[in-house]
Amino acid sequence: GGEAAAGPLVDRPIIIAHRGASGYLPEHTLEAYRLGIRQGADFIEPDLFLTRDGKLVALHDDTLNATTNIEALAATRPDWFARGRDVGGRRLYYVFDFDFDEIRELTARSRGTAGYSRPGNGFYDGTEPFRVPSFAEVLEVSYDHFRETGQVVGVYPELKFTSALPPADGLAYLRAMADATLAELADPRWGGFFDGSRGNVFIQSFIPAVLQYARDLTTLPLIALTFTLPNGAGFPPVPTCPTTPEAAAALASFAQGIGVNAAAATEACIAAAHEAGLLVHVYTLTDRAEDYRLFLERGVDGIFSNHPDIGVGVRNAL
Ligand code: G3P
Ligand code: CA
Repeated sequence: GGEAAAGPLVDRPIIIAHRGASGYLPEHTLEAYRLGIRQGADFIEPDLFLTRDGKLVALHDDTLNATTNIEALAATRPDWFARGRDVGGRRLYYVFDFDFDEIRELTARSRGTAGYSRPGNGFYDGTEPFRVPSFAEVLEVSYDHFRETGQVVGVYPELKFTSALPPADGLAYLRAMADATLAELADPRWGGFFDGSRGNVFIQSFIPAVLQYARDLTTLPLIALTFTLPNGAGFPPVPTCPTTPEAAAALASFAQGIGVNAAAATEACIAAAHEAGLLVHVYTLTDRAEDYRLFLERGVDGIFSNHPDIGVGVRNAL
C-alpha cells in the first residue's frame, strides 16, 4: 500500500494508443505499438492474458479466434483441435489453453470490424507475419524508445478477465495475472524504468476485486474501468459511470482514476469523478476529430484512441 504515484506523464490530456495504433495496423502487435509511438501517443495499451504456461501475452479477447489464424492451424493439428471448446455452435480456442510457444506459431491479424485496421489501407497489405507479443516485448518497445530518444512513452496494461472459468478460478487467474504483471514491470532488466516514478505506468481492469488486490501490492496508479462486473465470471457488462459523490468516492477508495465508455462520459460523471480526485480516461475513439474535441472540451484527462495521430493532432491544437 502507501501513497500512489498517481499523475499523468504530461501536464495535458494523454492520448493512449489503444491496442497500439489499431486503426491502422493489426491490434496488439509490436508494429501497431511502434506506430502509436511514431504518431505521438503518450501511452501504449496492451490488454493482457496469461497463457497455459503462465506467460503474459497482449491480446484483447480471451480466445484466439478473432485475431489469429488458429482456426486454420487447428484444422491440421488434432492436439490443438482437441483443446478447443464448443461454445454457442463455434469451436473456441482460449488463450489459457495454449502455451506461449504455441501462440507464437500463430499469425496475428486485425479483427477487421469498424474502427480497426484492414489490409490494403496503406499501412500493410495482409501478407506481413505479425505475431502475438509477450508483455515483456511490449515493455521493451517503450524502454527501447526511451533509450534511443530520451522520450518517455508510458504503458497502460489492462488485466483482462475471462468468463470461461468458474468465478473462483477466474479471480485466481486475475490475481495471478496481477502478480505476473507487477513482477514483469519490476524486472531488473528495465532498471526501474517502470517503477512509476516517471508517471509512465497505469494499470487498469474492469474487475474491482483485482484492483483491490493489486492496491496492496503496488503504488502504481490503478484505473477502474466502469462497467459493473461483480467478479468477471460471466456477468453481462453494464455501462455506468459515477455521478454522485458517494459513487465516485467508492471508486476512489481503490483507484486513482476511472476509464469510462464514451457513451457514459457525461459532464456530470466527469465532474463527480474529478471532485473525488479521480482521473478520467475515455474509451474508445477512432478517426473522428470532433469526438476528441468533445471530450477534451469536457475536461477529460486522457483518451484511448485507435487513431492516435488524429487524437494527438486535436489535443495539440487546443
Ligand atoms: O481499456 C480501455 C478499453 O480498452 C476497454 O475496452 O474492450 O478495448 O479493452 P477494450
Ligand atoms: Ca483495454
